[in-house]
Amino acid sequence: MYRTNNCGELRIEHVGREIVLSGWVQKIRDKGFMMWIDLRDRYGITQLIFDETYTPKELMEKARGCGREFVIKATGTVVERSSKNPNIPTGDIEIKVTELEILNKSEVPPFTIEDETDGGDELRMKYRYLDLRRNPVKKGILLRHKMAQEVRKYLDGQGFVEVETPVLIKSTPEGARDFVVPSRVHPGEFYALPQSPQTFKQLLMVAGYDRYFQIVKCFRDEDLRADRQPEFTQIDCEMAFVEREDILNTFEGLAKHMFKTIKNVEFQGDFPRMSYQKAMELYGSDKPDIRFDMHFNDLTETVKGKNFPVFDSAEFIAGICAKGCGEYTRKQLDELVLFVQKPQIGSKGLVYVKCNEDGTFKSTVDKFYNNDDLKIWAQKMNAAPGDLLLVLAGTKKQTTSALCELRLEMGERLGLRDKNKFCPLWVVDFPLLEWDEESKRFFAMHHPFTSPVKEDIGLFETNPGDIRANAYDFVVNGVEVGGGSIRIHDEKLQSTMFKTLGFTPEEAQAQFGFLLNAFKYGAPPHGGIAFGFDRWTAMFAGNDTIRDVIAFPKNNAAKDVMIDSPATISNEQLKELSIKIDQK
Ligand code: AMO
Repeated sequence: MYRTNNCGELRIEHVGREIVLSGWVQKIRDKGFMMWIDLRDRYGITQLIFDETYTPKELMEKARGCGREFVIKATGTVVERSSKNPNIPTGDIEIKVTELEILNKSEVPPFTIEDETDGGDELRMKYRYLDLRRNPVKKGILLRHKMAQEVRKYLDGQGFVEVETPVLIKSTPEGARDFVVPSRVHPGEFYALPQSPQTFKQLLMVAGYDRYFQIVKCFRDEDLRADRQPEFTQIDCEMAFVEREDILNTFEGLAKHMFKTIKNVEFQGDFPRMSYQKAMELYGSDKPDIRFDMHFNDLTETVKGKNFPVFDSAEFIAGICAKGCGEYTRKQLDELVLFVQKPQIGSKGLVYVKCNEDGTFKSTVDKFYNNDDLKIWAQKMNAAPGDLLLVLAGTKKQTTSALCELRLEMGERLGLRDKNKFCPLWVVDFPLLEWDEESKRFFAMHHPFTSPVKEDIGLFETNPGDIRANAYDFVVNGVEVGGGSIRIHDEKLQSTMFKTLGFTPEEAQAQFGFLLNAFKYGAPPHGGIAFGFDRWTAMFAGNDTIRDVIAFPKNNAAKDVMIDSPATISNEQLKELSIKIDQK
């Protein structure tokens, strides 16, 4: 027998019990006549004690021969500790060891297996199986497991059926590039890995499975960020005979269940909703962090005509009011200027106005604006003495995105982005289409299967850019946790959509014939949503990157440095697949 108990469960009431524990050596302390080994497994740490006064010499020597991360089995008696450790649940007891077996040796690990490790990112990824032994990573993986169970429990309770959909499919246009897999039996032909099971879940609605879900891997070949992985997991859901309201209510139920069971947070009433337009206007983002306000103030009309060339020539001028920051030092203000000038933010400069306690103002544009002018700004921005106004100018697009970043930075600096506070939000009424100036064509903002809002269908003929989508995103603390829409279920409307997106009828038939055909056989009204499971877990874990809640993630260069993937394949394999590599 390897163990009677695990390393996290023995307590003072077990004193006197004969037990067997197996695990990894976390730490050895050797005082010569006495030795202690911290034995670790998934459940915790238990201290083993060896003492010359009663431990046979041979056993002492064996214990001394152990090293960090050795796998050992210890038999002994639970005894009360003389010096207790209140920091761990097993800290009242230790094991007086009578037998010790080394089950496996370990090389010295390349980094310390401690909460605070000396291992850098790359090293930890290379030895991920060691990193996974560390508490902070283990916590994320266990939380993920618990969340998956709660999702299943809730959705099963609501009559949802879990159905698996294929992984070898063909390209669907969802915004990112596909990963493709060559077919051996059909030389020159390729499968694509799904960016999501979108069309399959719609086909399941046509098939009559009116409540579907799946915790499913999705694959997207896109540039990586802290919240993006090339393979990630969705909680993918679809329902038939529903309108937007039904979907929002059902999944608000799921979200509330998750908040309650995982974070013990209860929400009274409905989650707030905000239109895409309002979100952009107030926060410059379709995923606003509403843990704090600090909304945008459009100053374009207010500040022009005073001979300040930067403002007079700008398309858009807007600012935020940072409460209580009027005392910012020169150094702090310079940091903010450098922040907005970072290449990824791209502003040329920042205008600031300090609202002094005596009702006067101090600004970087005193040459152009007198106290009365600045008073009007302050009124417009609801500022009080002691506040700081931060104003950016430029094109609408650039200024909006830069001010959004500056707002988040100020929120961070002011401690307004508390990880333990959750502010969920539904963002609704997205535009259906986005115009791409470069290719001079429309793209679907969500995906081509999203239904327009009924009243806007007429605009396909006149002004497609103004059509609102029956789409919604679930946003928490500035993170897009999920997104979905009511779908088109009418073949004709779907064809109009494809046409607007620049597909000829033949192209639409070649790529989506299966869906258009399915719509000829009794497609019910339907809609759904998919949650980013990694993002949701990372948020509940309080992590900034989703990598920490994925057992074997890729690094920022989309590589798995542990298994060394992607990698070349042999010439035989290439030949079998009828593939020649262009060496250029
Ligand atoms: P969407 O593309 O918005 O919708 O994806 C749904 C959610 O998945 C998460 N997500 C990601 N997470 C990690 N890494 C990525 N690369 C990544 N990309 C997306 C986000 C996002 O909100 N089929 C539709 C859903 C639907 O219409 O029902 C879809 O995939 O949290």
